[in-house]
Amino acid sequence: MSSRPLPDGEELRRLVDRAVAASFPERPYPERLWESMLYTAGSGGKRLRGSLVLMACAAAGGDWEKALPAAVAVELIHAYSLIHDDLPIMDDDDYRRGRPTNHRVYGPAIALLAGDALQARAFAVLTAVENGAPPQVQLAWVRELAEAAGAAGLVGGQVVDWESEAGRWEQEERGKVAGRLEFIHRHKTGSLLRAAARLGGVAAEAGEETLTRLGVYGSELGLAFQITDDLLDEVGDPAGTGKAVGRDRRRGKLTYVTLFGVEESREAARRAIERAKAAIEPLGEGARRLLELADQLVGRSR
Ligand code: IPE
Ligand code: IPE
Ligand code: MG
Ligand code: MG
Ligand code: MG
Repeated sequence: MSSRPLPDGEELRRLVDRAVAASFPERPYPERLWESMLYTAGSGGKRLRGSLVLMACAAAGGDWEKALPAAVAVELIHAYSLIHDDLPIMDDDDYRRGRPTNHRVYGPAIALLAGDALQARAFAVLTAVENGAPPQVQLAWVRELAEAAGAAGLVGGQVVDWESEAGRWEQEERGKVAGRLEFIHRHKTGSLLRAAARLGGVAAEAGEETLTRLGVYGSELGLAFQITDDLLDEVGDPAGTGKAVGRDRRRGKLTYVTLFGVEESREAARRAIERAKAAIEPLGEGARRLLELADQLVGRSR
């Protein structure tokens, strides 16, 4: 059993913030690169993915403190993906987490390289001797995260997202487009949430059945989360999201809102949340926090 109970929402978010900050070296060189890495990875996010790792570990009966390296690693991958996603050659966004995007502060070259370095660093964190995880856990972590972050996961989703810009999808048959949209969301966002949940399970040395349940939960949660992100781009408030609104429509992006409209998108998100909850209900009382998290994501405003 864990020496400490898992902290609640805001405290958990701060704990992940601190763990990420503590994973950075004290006197780094080249300073500007590390500064840029820390600018995005260091703070300001909801820390959903890192918190999910810890909650999933606890849900699988493990000591959540043992999952901290995985919580940090998944947030580093997420931070890199945000930096690259915002670049002028991608979504070309100026605001993120209520402040200028990384490339607006450090320039596109450093932003690109900071993203590259964050991605590599995630795997260094997972495999550090000092993190205390047994070698078989480290190996399973690397396998999960590499699979989720790469062409078969996040990057694959980003590619299809990018290919579907500028309204290129509008002339296509609706059923085909809907399938592609689900692919985008399950990969660009669902993969990392699926991995986060499974990484927590791996830290708890959970069996295959539990890992599968956690994975389905993470994947469905990820789908709902990205549909809600699409909704917030349409009807959200930048004061809450820390991002500009109306960007997807302006860029002709294929999103749940641009294809199905607001009401159908809300319904699709609700259905995904129900599937997420159903997957982990058999885990019993340990899964309570994960069930609450799923409910909190319905109708989120940030
Ligand atoms: C933004 O993720 C990118 C998406 C996959 C929608 P978050 O909304 O979790 O961003 P932060 O980490 O809280 O800023
Ligand atoms: C981004 O999706 C998913 C990533 C893998 C970064 P979006 O492009 O919709 O995310 P935001 O709205 O910029 O945060
Ligand atoms: Mg994008
Ligand atoms: Mg974007
Ligand atoms: Mg978005």
